[in-house]
Amino acid sequence: MTTQMVELFAGIGGFRLAGEALGIETIWANDIDQKAAQIYQQQFKGGTFVQGDIKKCLHQIPNHQLLTAGFPCQPFSSAGKKKGFHDPRGTLFEVVVQILQTHSPSFFVLENVKRLLSMDNGQHFATILNSLSSLDYLIEWRLLNAKHFCLPQHRERVIIIGSKNSVPKSFLATSPDFCTLSDNQLTQIAGHHRWINITKHDQKFPNWGLSYHHQMIGFQLTHFYDAQNSVLLTDIVQKQVDSRFDLTQETQARLKNSQRVNKYYNGVEILYNQKGGARMGYTLFGINGVAPTLTSSTSRHYERYRIGNQYRRLTPVEYARIQGFPDNHCERLPIYDQYALYGNAVPPPMVKWVIPRLINDLSVDFHRLNNQMELF
Ligand SMILES: C[S@@+](CC[C@H](N)C(=O)[O-])C[C@H]1O[C@@H](n2cnc3c(N)ncnc32)[C@H](O)[C@@H]1O
Repeated sequence: MTTQMVELFAGIGGFRLAGEALGIETIWANDIDQKAAQIYQQQFKGGTFVQGDIKKCLHQIPNHQLLTAGFPCQPFSSAGKKKGFHDPRGTLFEVVVQILQTHSPSFFVLENVKRLLSMDNGQHFATILNSLSSLDYLIEWRLLNAKHFCLPQHRERVIIIGSKNSVPKSFLATSPDFCTLSDNQLTQIAGHHRWINITKHDQKFPNWGLSYHHQMIGFQLTHFYDAQNSVLLTDIVQKQVDSRFDLTQETQARLKNSQRVNKYYNGVEILYNQKGGARMGYTLFGINGVAPTLTSSTSRHYERYRIGNQYRRLTPVEYARIQGFPDNHCERLPIYDQYALYGNAVPPPMVKWVIPRLINDLSVDFHRLNNQMELF
């Protein structure tokens, strides 16, 4: 039977694109933003899309097996701070918890920014883990980077997966044959003396961990063994770009006063910098590295690159490629809206790697799919 998915905070459908590549059917999706809704409905047919505040649409959500949510990161109130825990009530994360309680899907995938692990000295993530692990899910989290998934971008995201009534293949399994952790390895992890009560964790969280029934274990992993071939900006930039994207004469004049840096920082090539530091002042990026994290904030759309003979910013098509979307995904919107929507999205190739680690019995032939689908 086809796995049925609900996509919360759907944006332009990063999870949906990955789901479609894996043979998963999205039956319901929601976002409050009118422009995201426009793109989502233009690009995807089938299933229901509801535009509006999720808090007002809860009653419309159908039963499903997989819930996905790139939920907005909001601070929790300090009402519940007494035991060192904040209060998620009234936040959009709490909506995710409510939906998990009501529909009890077998699986979920949540995505968020890296600082979720360190905010408030780890208390924010501890609250999240504690809420999720009380719902009878086995939880696993891992910090992933878009640049390990054939995308030219340093973008670190926390992915949290949950499964009920089954043990996932885990983020620790290696990819080529989709092998699972051996029983022996799992027993070792499960029986490891370092499992603690989540309330006892009072610092930044490591980049990988498991949690179950208010207990957790975590480790700082040093390698990502599944890293795929690296793709650099030079591989994806458009060759012919019109002068609309050129930096102004004034900006170019200022760049001439910058200091030469010629360094890589997180894989990002920095050619010039006003003050010589890694990310300060008037930075000019090269294309022999990856892009810094794309965001929805306007200042990022003005980041400066030297590409061939041009001094320019990136185009929306380049944004699409850097995030792993088809070139034309948002083309019907004004360019500034496109930058914002791509900057907010989850990279589909990253979640396309994640989902099979969670759902063991997807009714698709992965080898056939991998050979035939050139989606990403
Ligand atoms: C981080 S983005 C997720 C993007 C998405 N994963 C994608 O691939 O495009 C968060 C989304 O939550 C939506 N959002 C914020 N508040 C909302 C609410 N109250 N109800 C529904 N959607 C909301 C925003 O419009 C935004 O598109």
